Formats: sequence, C-alpha cells, structure tokens
Amino acid sequence: MSHKLPLSRVSKLIGISRRALQEMVRGGSLNTFDGMIELEEMLRAFPDAKWENDAEFRRVTEIKEKAFGKRVFERALPDKEVLAARLAELGNEYAASQAMLMHYSQVFSWLDGKIDELAEDQSTETIHALHTLRAFLLRNISELPSDAAKAQAAMAQERISKIMSAHVTIRPSGHEFFVEGSDTLLEAALRAGVSLDYGCSNGNCGECRARLVSGKVMKVRAHDYVLHQDEKDAGTILLCSCAAVDDVVIEASVAGAHDIQEQHLEAKVKSVEVFNPDIAALHLLTPRSQRLRFLAGQSMQLSVNGLSGYYAIASCPCEDRHIEIQILRSSGDAFSELLFGSLKANDRIEMHGPYGEFVLDDASTRPVIFVAFGVGFAPIKSLIQHSMSLDLAEAMDLHWLADQAGHYQTNLCRSWADALDNFRYFPHPHGNDVEKSVSGIVAAYPDLNSYDVYAAGTKEQLRIAKRIFLKQGLPVQQWRAGEIDQ
Ligand code: FES
Repeated sequence: MSHKLPLSRVSKLIGISRRALQEMVRGGSLNTFDGMIELEEMLRAFPDAKWENDAEFRRVTEIKEKAFGKRVFERALPDKEVLAARLAELGNEYAASQAMLMHYSQVFSWLDGKIDELAEDQSTETIHALHTLRAFLLRNISELPSDAAKAQAAMAQERISKIMSAHVTIRPSGHEFFVEGSDTLLEAALRAGVSLDYGCSNGNCGECRARLVSGKVMKVRAHDYVLHQDEKDAGTILLCSCAAVDDVVIEASVAGAHDIQEQHLEAKVKSVEVFNPDIAALHLLTPRSQRLRFLAGQSMQLSVNGLSGYYAIASCPCEDRHIEIQILRSSGDAFSELLFGSLKANDRIEMHGPYGEFVLDDASTRPVIFVAFGVGFAPIKSLIQHSMSLDLAEAMDLHWLADQAGHYQTNLCRSWADALDNFRYFPHPHGNDVEKSVSGIVAAYPDLNSYDVYAAGTKEQLRIAKRIFLKQGLPVQQWRAGEIDQ
C-alpha cells in the first residue's frame, strides 16, 4: 500500500522550498502521482535527507520566520483539543495498522499449514519446492529490506509534522498552506498570504463560509452566526471558527483587489519607530474584533485630530492585526509632523481603506524585479513579504533607489537575502538622475520578456522607469506601478 504526501508536506520534511520541488517535477527528476509524492519516490529523490535530525531545517525556518516578522513561539503548539483530535486520528491509524498486521499473521499461519497439507504424498521435488517457498516467505517476513529503516524514520518525521500542522488545499484556486499552532483556518490562510473571503473574523457575519470537500475540521471558536442544517449537511463551515484536524481540501473563494470593500476602523498606536531624522514607521494594532482586510501593496487613509493622509501599507496581511505605515518627514505635511512630534503609544487613529490595485499577481510564477524609489519601499516591502509567504516567484530581485532618507531598512533586506536562495538585494545610492539609475538597473536584464516588474515611487519616477523597462522589452502587462504621494 503506497503512502502519498502533498508537495508542501515534502517541502516541510526535506527543508527545501515548494517552488524548488515544482522545478524538479517539471525537470523530470521527481515524479508525482495526482499531484502527490509517494514515500518511496521521496526517499529515492532525496537519498541524503537526514530524517533523524531536522535541526538544520528548523534553523533555516526560524531565520525565515524572524526575517518575515512572524511570531515563532506563539505558534509552536496546536490548540489542546485539536492536538487531542490529531492524536486520536494517529491512534486510529496505528490501530488499523496493528489490525492489518494481525490479519497478515493469520494469513501466514494458514499458508504455513496449507504448505504442510499440500506436501503430503507429493514427490520429493514438489516437497522441496514447497519447503523452499516457505523458507523464502519466512526470510522475507523476518528480514526488513535495507531501506526500511530510512522509510520508518521518514514516516516518523511525517507523523510528527502532521501532529504539529495540518495541510490545506483551497479549490479551485489551488492555494496551499499549513494550519499551525492554535490558528483557525482563516488565520492560517492570512498568515500564508492567501486572501480568503471574510468579514468580521469573529463568527458574526458568515462571510467566511466555505465548503469542506475532504478531511476533518473542528470548531475551536464559538460563533453567533447560525449555519442551517442543510448548509451543515453540504459541508459548510466557518473558516474563522474552525481549525483543521488533519489534511483538508476546502472550496472557498480567494479575493482580488476589487472584492475587498472599504472599511472604517479605529486602531491603536503600538509604537513609533524612528529610523532616522527623515523617516519613521508607525506601528498600529487593529481591534481583535475588527481587523483591516487588505491585500499586500494597497494603501489607506489615516486620520487623527482632524489631520489625515494617504499612505501605502508596509506590512503584509500575514501579520494579522499589526499594520505598519512608513512616513517621510516633511515640513509641509502636518500629519508627518504629528508622527515625529506628539503621537505616542495607545493614541487612537482612524483608518479608512484599503485602496489601490498595486497588488501581486499570484497566478504568475515568473521571476520578479521589485523597484523601490525612496519610501516606495513601503508597499514593496509588503509585496515581498506576501510573495515570500506564497513561495511562488522563481526569483526575486529588489532594487532600492534611496532618497534623502537612505536605505533605512537595509538590514531587513539583507536578512531576506541571507535566508532565501532566490532573493537578491541591490541598494542603489541616492541620486537625482532617475533615467541614469533605472537604465543601469535594466542593463543587467538583457531579456525582460520573462519577468514581472513591480515599481513604487512618485508619478514622475514611475513614468520614466516604465518607459525604460518597456523599451528594453518588458511586456506592458507585466509592469505594475504603485504611486507614492510622499
Ligand atoms: S468572518 Fe465573519 S463569521 Fe467568519
């Protein structure tokens, strides 16, 4: 009986990206069956994998988690009830395997007797052949094949991985992610950068309704929204109140920029992080009962004490209630003066949005070039983190053309480059000649036909950059621009 694993689970076990596995599948060095990988095939393709020791994989995972600003320890263990349900599932599987072994043992005893029965009154040759058959069966049952220890260790790792996390496939989009810790399906999807439809996120509106196609889920948060019996019979669940007990397939719609309605909410200032005298980040926390729904790369309006401004969101939707805005200090901008002056932790700020269509094309697996002009780094940062969560782009290059505020988060960019094989970071010095700077970048890409380009900056910077990229052969539909007002 073959044991099959989803590509994402193999990626987790081996410690290489899903994208790299997909490349192996495309290149023919890894075979899949209905999109799954058989255990024997995994062992064949990765003969050197260290099943007994996943310390290195954990180290890389932790670097990535820290680099992407995620909380590692908070998410370590599943919810108690989910853990109990997963252990019960594992117990059932163990019992089924034991029952199967007992059955095989009975079949063997029967065969043993049958051989004795058949051997009666037979010729010497036939008796010899039957005894040879018995010896063959006994030897093969008592001696495990040479790679059995490896298969056993790999399966043990897979079982631990299944206790710690459940794999989710979304239909029809094909998105995949893991539910870890005490996350609901909705929280896990948002952390993974998958923008599933939802509203209140706390069981009131019913907008996160989805259909469970296969696998088991468990209600871990109470909800006031009432699901009718016919909906329950059809497999309808609320993503914001359920966690996955085992690997599940769910039918749900993934939102695009046009599907997300404008929201108004009041957030709390968590902190003001001054990078240097020219730029600071405003860290906001949305209420537990009302999160801001947005896509990476979008903007919003902030208002406080009658002052307001439009800013790109620098954080990723995967950061849950935490929203980051980066604001350039400008003497003519009263809102920025407020940020550098009197704004402090726990102050209240009105948020309106999200706005804009500068979002990731998550259907594309082309390599991506990100171009950030000055504080245009903010939406680019959000897009990069989203892209990393989805693990789709074949390669990512970030070109940051600094203004007077400099490369104020250069260490973060370097940590991305250190943690990921497919990420390169190119800081470009402050310069006023946009034409010259962009031409210098473009010269490094002789064939732009196979790239997606995401650029964020002022209207004029984007106009010049677009002209140069298109002239060098970038197809116009692969150019995306986010205008920054600051
Ligand atoms: S998002 Fe409102 S009920 Fe789930």
